[in-house]
Amino acid sequence: MDGVTDQPYRFIQKKYGQPDLLYTEFTNVEGLCHGATQLLKDFIYDESQRHIIAQIYGKTPKYFRQVATIVCELGFDGVDINMGCPAKTVASSGAGAALIENPELAKEIIVATQAGVTDFLNGKRAKDCEDITPQMAALVSQRAQSVPKEVAERTAIPVSIKTRVGYHQPVTTEWISFLLEFEPAAIALHGRTLKQHYTGLASWEEIAVAAELAKKTNTILLGNGDIPSLSDAKEKIATYNVDGVLIGRGSFGNPYIFKSEPESSDPSLTQIALEHSLLFEETYGKDERYNFLPMRKHLGWYVKGFRDAKEIRIALCQSNSAQEVKNILIEYNLI
Ligand SMILES: Cc1cc2nc3c(=O)[nH]c(=O)nc-3n(C[C@H](O)[C@H](O)[C@H](O)COP(=O)(O)O)c2cc1C
Repeated sequence: MDGVTDQPYRFIQKKYGQPDLLYTEFTNVEGLCHGATQLLKDFIYDESQRHIIAQIYGKTPKYFRQVATIVCELGFDGVDINMGCPAKTVASSGAGAALIENPELAKEIIVATQAGVTDFLNGKRAKDCEDITPQMAALVSQRAQSVPKEVAERTAIPVSIKTRVGYHQPVTTEWISFLLEFEPAAIALHGRTLKQHYTGLASWEEIAVAAELAKKTNTILLGNGDIPSLSDAKEKIATYNVDGVLIGRGSFGNPYIFKSEPESSDPSLTQIALEHSLLFEETYGKDERYNFLPMRKHLGWYVKGFRDAKEIRIALCQSNSAQEVKNILIEYNLI
């Protein structure tokens, strides 16, 4: 999730929740192919996070192809194409959920991404990609050196798609049947239309329609939308016959959402908030443009529902360092 699932967040979620899959923030293929090396920040991960999937978005098939090769070189476990983002900045340019209305381009993007994975297997690397700058290629190659041998030598990684049930209204049968023709490894379906953005409720009935279509294929169908707990996730899997689910907002400030059995040794959410803050500083502290601001929203989420939550949240949302977070948590007797 953009602005949320960065390296420190994924590390914390995996460490305390052990979800089976994690996705990076979506990353723009045009930017990567135009030399925006700062975007590689989205592709930072560590070995603890497997299975870790790189999500990419854009509208230029040849760039998807080259970025898919980069994703393989970086050792990711999968490459996911975003066809679900409703944000104006994305959809108005023809990317994200706008692709639901442009199946011809969607098809070219899927085929190009699959070809990029094959290119990697055939020996192509970032340095051999026509639109990748030498500086970008060098950074990718440098990071690729820490990819474990067994990962670097494996066969093709899966290409998957994340999408919505429609643009103006649900067109699930048409759209999902179309996508299935290209045999993606998985389709993750958010049960809202683009027009709905995040309003109303996700339609799990529409997701069930897609799950039924996917059953006749080798594509895995993952449902997504409004899951507040692990028990609800299990119920949805059973009721709507999906192969699994993705949990988004339910994980904000709560990695334990993925875990069935809390253990007595589990740290409290405020202890995790401090660990997350330290990790955030450690990960990005040396960046030229570093600041603590993106960490503040997480702090607010960690104390959601606490007694005196508003006061604590206000204090945390003004913090500028992990040390300040620690001081506030001590002041409120939260660690
Ligand atoms: C802040 C935010 C950022 C998001 N960024 C992405 C993204 O980069 N890629 C993506 O596929 N979905 C993104 N989404 C959508 C979520 O993945 C998910 O489909 C949606 O929130 C519904 O699931 P939920 O109810 O479990 O949150 C984002 C959602 C939010 C709230």
